Amino acid sequence: METVVSGIRPTGNLHLGNYFGAIKNFLKMQEEQNCYFFIADYHSLTTHPTPADLHRNVKQVLAEYLACGLDPDKSTIYIQSDLPETAELYLFLNMNAYKGELERCTSFKDKIRNQPENVNAGLLTYPTLMAADIIIHNAHKVPVGKDQEQHLEMTRTFAKRFNRLYNVDYFNEPVAFNFGENLVKVPGLDGSGKMGKSDGNAIYLCDDEKTIRKKVMKAVSDSGPTEMNQPKPDAIQNLFSMMQIVSAPDTLLHFNELYNKCEIRYGDFKKQLAEDIVLFTSPFKEKIDALLADDAYLGKVAKMGAEKARESGRKTVNEVREIIGFKSFY
Ligand code: ADP
Ligand code: TRP
Repeated sequence: METVVSGIRPTGNLHLGNYFGAIKNFLKMQEEQNCYFFIADYHSLTTHPTPADLHRNVKQVLAEYLACGLDPDKSTIYIQSDLPETAELYLFLNMNAYKGELERCTSFKDKIRNQPENVNAGLLTYPTLMAADIIIHNAHKVPVGKDQEQHLEMTRTFAKRFNRLYNVDYFNEPVAFNFGENLVKVPGLDGSGKMGKSDGNAIYLCDDEKTIRKKVMKAVSDSGPTEMNQPKPDAIQNLFSMMQIVSAPDTLLHFNELYNKCEIRYGDFKKQLAEDIVLFTSPFKEKIDALLADDAYLGKVAKMGAEKARESGRKTVNEVREIIGFKSFY
C-alpha cells in the first residue's frame, strides 16, 4: 500500500478548484491507500490571520473536508499544528535549503508581487514546510492541483538531498498525483487562468444558489463568435472548461455545437452552467452547515486524527534525529 499526503491551507472556504484539483482525488485515494489529509494552519500564518479568524477557518475546512466525504475511519484527517513534529522536521530541512532555490520558487515570486509589505521568512521557506508535511509520513503520492507541481519538485530535491547528505535511503521521492492523465486546473470565471480564494473569482462549495447564479451570470464573456468553428478566446474557453467539469457530456456537446455554428447565446449558456453548478454544490452546503453546528463531532475527529498523525510523525522524526546524529545522553 502506498502512503498519500495532502493538505489545504485554511485561508477561506473551499471552492470548486480545491474540490476538483485536490479533494476529488482524496476521496478515491482514501479507499485504496494509507492517507493523511491535513489542514495546513501553520502555512496560513504567513498572512497573519487574527486568532479568531485562524480558528474559524480551521473549523470551516474541517467541516468541509467531512462534508465532501473524507472519512476519518478510512484516512487520517488532522490539523497540521496538532503534529508539531512537522515544525522540527521543517527546521532540519531548512538547514539544507538554499536561499537561491527558495527565491526562484514561482509561488514566492507571486507573493512578493502580491504582498510586498509582508515578505516574511515563512513565505520564503514555504516549500520546506510543505516538504516536511509530505515526508514526515514518507509519502509516495501527493494529490494536488497543477499549481503545486513546483513545490513537489522541491520536495523531491530536499528528500534526495537529505538521503545523499547522510548517505541513507530513507525518504521516498513523492510525486504530485491526479487520477486523470494530467493535473487539473479549474479556471476562474473572470477570464483569468485559475480559480483561487485570493483572486476573488471563486465559487465556493458553501455558496447559496442565488450567489452562484449571480457569479456565473457575471462571468466574463464577449459578444459571441462571428465565424464558424472559430477558436475560443481564453475567457470563453474557461466557461467551457467549467462546463466540462460540472455538466453532463451532452450539455457540453450541445453548447459546443452552438458555438461552432455561431448560434450560441451566452445568457442561455451561463444559465445552464449555473444550474449545473448549483446541482453539484447544494448537497455539500447542507452537510457543511450541519457539521459546523456539531462541535462535539468535529472535536472527536480532530483528536483521532491528531493521535494517528503523531504516531506516524514521531516515528519519522525520531529516526531522522538518529540519522542526523542527535543521540541521547540519558
Ligand atoms: P487557493 O488557490 O484558492 O488559495 P490553495 O492554494 O489553498 O487554494 O489550494 C488547495 C488545493 O487546491 C491545492 O491542491 C491546489 O492545487 C488545489 N487548487 C486550488 N485552486 C485550484 C484550481 N483553480 N484548479 C485546480 N486545483 C486547484
Ligand atoms: N501548498 C499547498 C497549497 O497551497 C498546501 C499544502 C501545504 C500542501 N502543505 C502541503 C499540499 C503538503 C500537499 C501536501 O495548496
